[in-house]
Amino acid sequence: MSVTYHIDPGGMIKGRLRVPGDKSISHRSIMLASIAEGVTRISGFLEGEDAIATLNAFRALGVRVEGPEGGNVTVHGVGLRGLRRPGAALDCGNAGTAMRLLAGLLAGQSFDCELTGDESLRARPMKRIADPLNRMGALIETAEGGRPPLRVHGGRRLAGIDYAMPMASAQVKSALLLAGLYAEGKTCVTEPAPTRDHTERMLKAFGCEVEKNQRTVCVRGGPTLRASAIEVPADISSAAFFMVAAAIAPGSDLTLEHVGTNPTRTGVIDILRLMGANLELVNERTAGGEPVADIRVRGSRLRGIAVPPELVPLAIDEFPAVFIAAANAEGTTVVTGAQELRVKESDRIQTMADGLRALGARAEPTLDGMRVTGGSYHGGQVASRGDHRVAMAFAVAGLRATTAVTVTDCVNVATSFPGFVELAGTAGLKIRAN
Ligand code: S3P
Repeated sequence: MSVTYHIDPGGMIKGRLRVPGDKSISHRSIMLASIAEGVTRISGFLEGEDAIATLNAFRALGVRVEGPEGGNVTVHGVGLRGLRRPGAALDCGNAGTAMRLLAGLLAGQSFDCELTGDESLRARPMKRIADPLNRMGALIETAEGGRPPLRVHGGRRLAGIDYAMPMASAQVKSALLLAGLYAEGKTCVTEPAPTRDHTERMLKAFGCEVEKNQRTVCVRGGPTLRASAIEVPADISSAAFFMVAAAIAPGSDLTLEHVGTNPTRTGVIDILRLMGANLELVNERTAGGEPVADIRVRGSRLRGIAVPPELVPLAIDEFPAVFIAAANAEGTTVVTGAQELRVKESDRIQTMADGLRALGARAEPTLDGMRVTGGSYHGGQVASRGDHRVAMAFAVAGLRATTAVTVTDCVNVATSFPGFVELAGTAGLKIRAN
């Protein structure tokens, strides 16, 4: 199936809307609820293909899961040792989080298991989890070049390790912590810079002790996780497209409701504010152990900035949207220290630079980032290369192009943002899909 977006320029972004549930938290909710004792009720679950891939994987592992229905999911936990050997390879689809976290969790089981995914996922690096997990005593085989599919062998005795991650990756950290639940002794992971801490927070909510000391986080093997209600907030990574849309379209006034504002995820708010965006957090509160707020964004003049490197891991999924903000800002925006963008659902440095250039915008890719100089740009055809966030970023870019923008290969938007076109249309984007 192929989906193409057509965006006519102009218009304002207005109203109040709630984007779908947080993808990172949705994945983790199924995983931890499955290995907990008791019944967990999840609300606000992301009914996107990535999170559904995780849900189906746990069904295949013998867990009874009801839903999703209107964002509600009920998971009948089987306990730490209750998963069963699946009848076939587990298909993680487009979801790196599903594959990497599952690899950690499956490393400690008594059975063998294979993990596979779509063409994009099968091109992504897995040695970053296989190497440290194997150091714990796991046996995980990758295909050529350290790529999926992964063969995770069961019946291994795992021992805790002290691991200093070479890259700032919440997926690697989480994979090791999940394996650590099955390891003898203590497993500690040190990160070079703070990354999203949803795994740690949720483990605590399930009654598991998590030690945190500056950049090091540790768990001990053999805890009992107890079922706990989970309320998934709206995904700030999905909200980011609307933040940028409202910021770049003069006259816009948009409120995004119940957005997760965990400080390990709010880099995009800081970056847009540094660029001069008018963003206001209102009604700040806590829901299910995670901070949430409504975010009001009004159109404003943006200026180019050098993005502070410490904000990069805190906004890692938002760079497609940030590059579009940069193309609409006065002056040059420079992003450095973002080499991880090259191994996302696509090489996001190249895909975004190519797309911006196709519209006549000024973008120079570098090894670890990009320089984007703002100004006017025309319409034309952009290839999203099957990357959901690239597709949505260029849909937003269409607001300010001088002629219509077409974005190809948008089917994967359904992995993280089901209903994007409809919601964007309601907010004022002149978008249609066919
Ligand atoms: C995620 C971590 C990040 C992010 C991804 C989701 C997670 O990946 O890009 O979309 O849920 O842990 P890395 O760990 O590769 O940085």
